[in-house]
Amino acid sequence: MVDEQGMRSRVDELIAEMTVAEKAGQLTQYFYFRLPAGSEVDPEPGLDVAGQPAMVESVLGEGAAGSLLFVTDPAEINRLQRLAIDGHRLGIPVLFGFDVIHGLRTILPVPIALAASWDPAMIQRGQAVAAREARAVGIHWTFAPMVDIARDPRWGRMIEGAGEDPFLGAVVAAAQVRGFQGPEIGAPEGVVACPKHFAGYGAALGGRDYDEADVSESALWNVHLPPFAAALEAGAGSVMTAYMDLNGIPATGDRWLQSDVLRGALGHAGFVVSDANAVRDLVTHGFARDLSDAGARALGAGVDMEMAIADAAYAHLPDAVDRGMVSEETLDVSVRRVLEAKLRLGVFETPYVDEERAREVLGDPAHREVARIAAERSAVLLRNDGGLLPLDAARANSIAVIGPLADSRRDTLGPWCFDFDLGETVTVLEGIVSRSGGARVDCAPGIRPAQRVFPSMFDMFGNNAPRDPENFDDDAELDRAVAIAAGADVAVVVVGEWQNMIGESASRSSLELPGRQLELLQAVVATGTPVVLLVMNGRPLDLRWAADHVGAILDIWYPGTQGGTAVANLLFGDVSPAGRLPFTWPRTVGQVPMVYSHTVSHQPQKQAQRYWDEQSTPLFCFGHGLSYSRFEYGEPSVDRATISPGEAVTVSAEVTNVGARDADEVAQLYIHQRHGSASRPVRELKGFARIALAAGESRAVSFTLGPAELRHWNAAARDWVIDASTFDVWVGGDSTATHSTTFEVTET
Ligand code: BGC
Repeated sequence: MVDEQGMRSRVDELIAEMTVAEKAGQLTQYFYFRLPAGSEVDPEPGLDVAGQPAMVESVLGEGAAGSLLFVTDPAEINRLQRLAIDGHRLGIPVLFGFDVIHGLRTILPVPIALAASWDPAMIQRGQAVAAREARAVGIHWTFAPMVDIARDPRWGRMIEGAGEDPFLGAVVAAAQVRGFQGPEIGAPEGVVACPKHFAGYGAALGGRDYDEADVSESALWNVHLPPFAAALEAGAGSVMTAYMDLNGIPATGDRWLQSDVLRGALGHAGFVVSDANAVRDLVTHGFARDLSDAGARALGAGVDMEMAIADAAYAHLPDAVDRGMVSEETLDVSVRRVLEAKLRLGVFETPYVDEERAREVLGDPAHREVARIAAERSAVLLRNDGGLLPLDAARANSIAVIGPLADSRRDTLGPWCFDFDLGETVTVLEGIVSRSGGARVDCAPGIRPAQRVFPSMFDMFGNNAPRDPENFDDDAELDRAVAIAAGADVAVVVVGEWQNMIGESASRSSLELPGRQLELLQAVVATGTPVVLLVMNGRPLDLRWAADHVGAILDIWYPGTQGGTAVANLLFGDVSPAGRLPFTWPRTVGQVPMVYSHTVSHQPQKQAQRYWDEQSTPLFCFGHGLSYSRFEYGEPSVDRATISPGEAVTVSAEVTNVGARDADEVAQLYIHQRHGSASRPVRELKGFARIALAAGESRAVSFTLGPAELRHWNAAARDWVIDASTFDVWVGGDSTATHSTTFEVTET
């Protein structure tokens, strides 16, 4: 525990000693990375990215930076920290930040996959491993979790969040914060969490990354803010702003958003960092006049630290103070928050890391186990007609593993990781080979990897874009794959998006399988060999054909370091899949955005025929996921038929595993308010529990619905309201659950 009083006096003393330039320095964070030789993509036209490391080192020498990001090598971190401390008149160390999104060395499944586990305890464990590795190399702060609600899968960053639902999003956000930070900020193996991007980033128009978001007041409070509120409630020490305009005002310069809402309504007590170059971008947006204006207005809005590649706007803060655009007291408020974070983390006392220990922590085999379990628990069984899965090892004597993603280590890991060890990454093919015992396993890619039309800015880092194989004879390779499939007892076909096609700056105008993957799948299915389809994805893809023609479909996401092992364990039934979709899976891109929690409107009986050319229902509903076992639900009951606003009701239901295997089930509770001061969604998730049930076992699950679950933000009242109404409650295995009951909320 830090001595709060002592910390405050220490900060007072430092601030009293600091010049305005030194204060501006504390509020400025720089990227530090070297572009690999031959890099073709310039991440920021007009900025001298190649000269950036030298620039940063000289800035450190002048004590003019408060934080760095993107360094992960402990020796480098120590070297740069030494430069910072030696270069600072008052010896103030820098904070090291990094995007530890789903692991540092041990790569966990991608965040949307973690959310699909509906297992907050596992998510917390996973992010605790990520934090332990990060802290061991000297990273103090992760730019995670991304808690943006994503309802348009064209937006590539859907993969970084928990999907479409605010309730699930809130639970997952809190679990991640607890995992990253540990019991308190400053825990020896924890890092400061940074829920992002505040706010509304997931609502980018057309799913186009960085484009503006128009979010209604109701959607902002009821949908987009709850995960941030939950992350802050869990103690998140920092928050990152968003790039885009929210309702016409750049989020990073919006004082109402960053101060009134974030600090006022949501009670954020930590510090706020801008997204990369987002303060400079206030000029780009046509909002700020120049960089001094941008710096003054972002700081005035409540953005304590600027994240910059080069030419930081906050380097102009001394000029802004001179010109009376912002007061030195405003700088002091932000400097205090940043220095307090450094003191809480113990960076003054322990600025350097033990490189030997870092190596040990990164190599910890227990971390790989956590990653394997996370991958097993996040897979979603979308279809399993005729019980094709699990595979019977005794009968599957020959297995064909088909598709270029089946044996791609880099793609198995997913986007937003840089520090992985490809050598220890297990692909689907490798997992199947080692799990299948004596079976014969033959593999063929069938087609070459698809490529983006426009490259990704991440392609400048090695290993990112798929390599186009030389001397690849397209027709011969397709024939070879089909022949292998034809001669096998079962074909496992792996399709999806290459990992550079999803994530930041990876929005798409279609959801089709890229390249010739559908053609490959159709050719394999035509052989008559039973097909198991594995999908590697971070968003729903157009699987209409597959859903009609393929017996078994397992969504494995990008499963991480131990992905192949986990997938093989799932395929052979060592574990039963129990993940559930954290988003509505549309049939086609033309339906998006599409959510389960829409409201009822005119002619609801024609909800499925809102388009004349395609059903307006999902291909797979929110919360969907099958099991190797089967579950039955009893009728839910309430402990009280009537409550007044402010009181709580407990809903219980019996769940029975009626199948022959031990398995997990995710019991889900949805509510609907029948009438009141606003139209409320047909269903809203308000409780869930992932439970393990042995074959034949029954268990009662219960959920409490109190003011937090029953209130909504009312755009007319501009406040939270709990309406007197009748509420329907369903408990079941997905968002179409049929067993229900009701209760009443009376007038106050
Ligand atoms: C992303 C942030 C990320 C930052 C630093 C930005 O482009 O939007 O989410 O934390 O880069 O890598």
